[in-house]
Amino acid sequence: MKKILITGCFGQIGSELTMRLRRDYGNDQVIATDIRRIEGSPLLEHGPFEILDVMDQRAMHRLAEKYQVDTLIHLAALLSAVAEAKPQLAWQLNMGGLMNALEVARELNLKFFTPSSIGCFGPETPADHTPQDTIQRPTTMYGVTKVAGELLADYYYTKFGVDTRGVRFPGLISHKTLPGGGTTDYAVDIYYEAIKRNRYTSYIAADTYMDMMYMPDAIEAIVRLLEADPARLIHRNAFNITAMSFSPAEIAASIQKYLPDFKMDYQVDPVRQKIAESWPNSLDARCAKDEWDFAPAYDLDTMTQDMLEKLSKKLGSTTA
Ligand code: SER
Repeated sequence: MKKILITGCFGQIGSELTMRLRRDYGNDQVIATDIRRIEGSPLLEHGPFEILDVMDQRAMHRLAEKYQVDTLIHLAALLSAVAEAKPQLAWQLNMGGLMNALEVARELNLKFFTPSSIGCFGPETPADHTPQDTIQRPTTMYGVTKVAGELLADYYYTKFGVDTRGVRFPGLISHKTLPGGGTTDYAVDIYYEAIKRNRYTSYIAADTYMDMMYMPDAIEAIVRLLEADPARLIHRNAFNITAMSFSPAEIAASIQKYLPDFKMDYQVDPVRQKIAESWPNSLDARCAKDEWDFAPAYDLDTMTQDMLEKLSKKLGSTTA
């Protein structure tokens, strides 16, 4: 992996991954692309940026060729709650964009990464210690595109020899870029509201468990998997990974360790609650550990401490 093209660079993952890869591989080695330009973003200052609509396969091919990249990281996609509101668009973008990206990877012989998600599972999946290889019958359009995406990426590996790799991300928490319309977003919003108002109204019920991960661990996982020795990989698309599993009540309790007056109440959103209930409580990530040494560093309390510190600086408060 020497020269990398990223789609969806201004998203929650892309904005941090682009910076990390530029630090590791050099600013000019990482070509950031997105459907729109966000003026003032540090991504525009430190290396190449190009406008790219992932629905335009020829444009993607042209850019990959122009910069002579050897790796394609395809991140542009709709998240679960937005996909439920616009299922047709979600299918078109999530599947169409992925198919285009895989085709470009096949034509130019690129290494390939795209994320799957805990959303690839459904109500019939074993909810606790969810195995790597298990029932995948999701009941959301997001999940349908994620399962189909996993199969398609594996197909490109077995049929065409494209070096495709992926992980099933849990909810990702970060203090830099907000997620755009997912079910797990409450676990990000709660920290912002804790700093701003010392209280939060959760749209997920108190005792609903989902897997989560702090963004530094997620970024590290992508880099590690892309650099992993292919001879060790038994699986490819996509690996279960997780750093923690908690409920809204537990994240609130973790915040209260640092902000004792923090208050939480609940106004459950039936749409996102139903999605959350269809997803696992906690994944088994042993295959990722065995096959490419996945090893997250943050647990709930260390993440909470870091989030509150970073956000109080960012939001200009001295609460934490
Ligand atoms: N965080 C994502 C979502 O909630 C799950 O992959 O949609």
